Amino acid sequence: MSKATPETIQRVEELRSVIDDHNYYYYVLDDPRIPDAEYDRLFRELQRLESDYPELASDNSPTCRVGSAAETRFGEVVHRLPMLSLDNAFSDDELRDFDRRVRDRLGLSEEVEYVCEPKLDGLAVSLHYENGSLTTAATRGDGYSGEDITANIRTIPSVPLKLRGDDVPELVEVRGEVYMPRDGFEQLNRRLADRGEKTFVNPRNAAAGSLRQKKSTVTARRPLDMCAYSVAVTDESLLPETQWEGLQRVRSWGFRINPEMRRARGVDECLEAYNELLAKRDTLPYEIDGIVFKVNRLDQQKALGFVSRAPRWAIARKFPAQEELTVIEDVEFQVGRTGAVTPVARLKPVFVGGVTVSNATLHNMDEIRRLDVRIGDTVFIRRAGDVIPQVVKVVTEKRPVKARQVELPATCPVCGSDVIQIEGEAVARCSGGLFCPAQRKEAIRHYASRKALDIEGLGDKWIDVLVDRGMIETVADLYHLSADDLMRLERMGEKSASNLVDAIDRARNPVLWRFLYALGIREVGEATAKALASHFGTLEAIAAADEETLQTVPDVGPIVAGHIRSFFEQTHNRETLDALREAGVSWQEEPIQQGGQPLKGQTWVLTGTLSEMTRDEAREKLESLGARVAGSVSRKTACVVAGEAAGSKLARAEQLDVPVLDEAGLRALLKEHGLEPG
Ligand code: IVH
Repeated sequence: MSKATPETIQRVEELRSVIDDHNYYYYVLDDPRIPDAEYDRLFRELQRLESDYPELASDNSPTCRVGSAAETRFGEVVHRLPMLSLDNAFSDDELRDFDRRVRDRLGLSEEVEYVCEPKLDGLAVSLHYENGSLTTAATRGDGYSGEDITANIRTIPSVPLKLRGDDVPELVEVRGEVYMPRDGFEQLNRRLADRGEKTFVNPRNAAAGSLRQKKSTVTARRPLDMCAYSVAVTDESLLPETQWEGLQRVRSWGFRINPEMRRARGVDECLEAYNELLAKRDTLPYEIDGIVFKVNRLDQQKALGFVSRAPRWAIARKFPAQEELTVIEDVEFQVGRTGAVTPVARLKPVFVGGVTVSNATLHNMDEIRRLDVRIGDTVFIRRAGDVIPQVVKVVTEKRPVKARQVELPATCPVCGSDVIQIEGEAVARCSGGLFCPAQRKEAIRHYASRKALDIEGLGDKWIDVLVDRGMIETVADLYHLSADDLMRLERMGEKSASNLVDAIDRARNPVLWRFLYALGIREVGEATAKALASHFGTLEAIAAADEETLQTVPDVGPIVAGHIRSFFEQTHNRETLDALREAGVSWQEEPIQQGGQPLKGQTWVLTGTLSEMTRDEAREKLESLGARVAGSVSRKTACVVAGEAAGSKLARAEQLDVPVLDEAGLRALLKEHGLEPG
């Protein structure tokens, strides 16, 4: 391989600096300045030059951010200055005590200025830079020495590999928190769960686990971020005089600084900052477990010094914990508005995330199996953000011998209909449909909706009232409501009552597809309802069709066919249909729009080669429109479809004056009847 020319060396340097800039704009400033594709081109050009000229390789090239598949052994790093921990204040009073101690020690009567920083919930890291280049990164460890995680830290896009600006001291140590933003955490856990792997309990564990990966390529794929919160240099005269300005300096070197940081004069403003941040906690894109107050002036910090392992100039005011241990006393199954049967853990009440929690969702049976949750287990409950409380982990060591397995009930706990679990779907469902009280309101709402039977005036509010009062149970009961019944309801006037009765009355004679759609069979939307109606012509035919027959209808696959079958197999649904018939509801069996089987009674002949569909496909489609497809042309033939190189049959058709369609004509015909040609 040839040696790199000065031009190549210069290009490599230029690329590194440009790519570093764009990383900074994108990951630190959240302000991308070039399209991703352009960035990728620059990145690939640099990768190519580095692989062509290995002598140009550098540990701090932006190409290192993709990590290496080689296994690292984490060496030990002794911290030049110990990495201390923080004392906690557990109440406003304890915070006032802290402030009083600070002022007493400093001999001040006036208020002290503090920096209020969110306490990010990740893990502390220490980064060393020499002449502006990252040399080592270490975890906190026991505070005196930690693990060398340099290769992994390099993969975090918001960590500068080279410090920006021209006022960078020769030796710099920056400390901060590596964390995983909420959405990245949720995506990662979803990915792990999909692969059947163990998930992380919280973003902090996910960040720690990701930084401790032996292969930095794995770390590189984890959505990690870093915010700096302190800086140390050997020559202190090079730093500003306050924590706040120090942070601004660190920011100017290319680090991310948490945007929620602010200054507060005196303890009352600190308490205000605490309350404001606590109120904001759930809306932040990352997790924080409290707020840290630091005396702003560095000379004052110095005067205050340390006690044992914590500074006297800083304190953390923790927020309510978002994870606690409790016991699963029972698992019950709830039925949602769409029939989803969801396991819910009944918990020994526990205070977590600021509220007392006594229920947590377990999502579905897959989740129960994945976590191996049993009744009687001690579990981690997590309630973060405004999401519903989750069971994130079982403490198997605490499992009692009498712990019981959770089983999916065979019948709906609300209505007793079969619970069905479709293969490949995580959610189990009640098949009760219109009958199940849990689904009743939703079923009635759907039945009355605009695209279904369009019962004007029957909004959600009235449906709630009618069902709650026991005036209707199923959609069939709607047809027995009288204006007198309705007028007894609060806020229902004479006029509205009679309008509603009229609107219900108008919904007695729908076309078949609308009625079918209105039944709310799972996954039978408008298009499928139309296709079913025009294929079968009557509700009885649809109700009688087996899954195989159902699947001959365009767009009906095995899953939809299964839903249709199980709907009609449920006694309750058949009873509701009978009740509807008895109430005088009838549906126009001959569908108007789709024309049902418009070619019924006709004999068609296919000849020649079709270019965009096979002859078999064409035959099926014609048959689905009711035609019989024959092999020879006679006087009775309704139409001949002639493809390329049609021969004697076409000649015969012309002879007998039988209409002939070319392929385009056939396609137009199919399209007209809602069939996708080809
Ligand atoms: S200052 C001497 N500032 O909290 C001061 N710590 O218990 C030492 N943390 O291990 C830390 N955000 O991981 C400081 N803005 C912040 C912080 C912060 C999170 C973590 C850090 C440390 C722990 C202290």
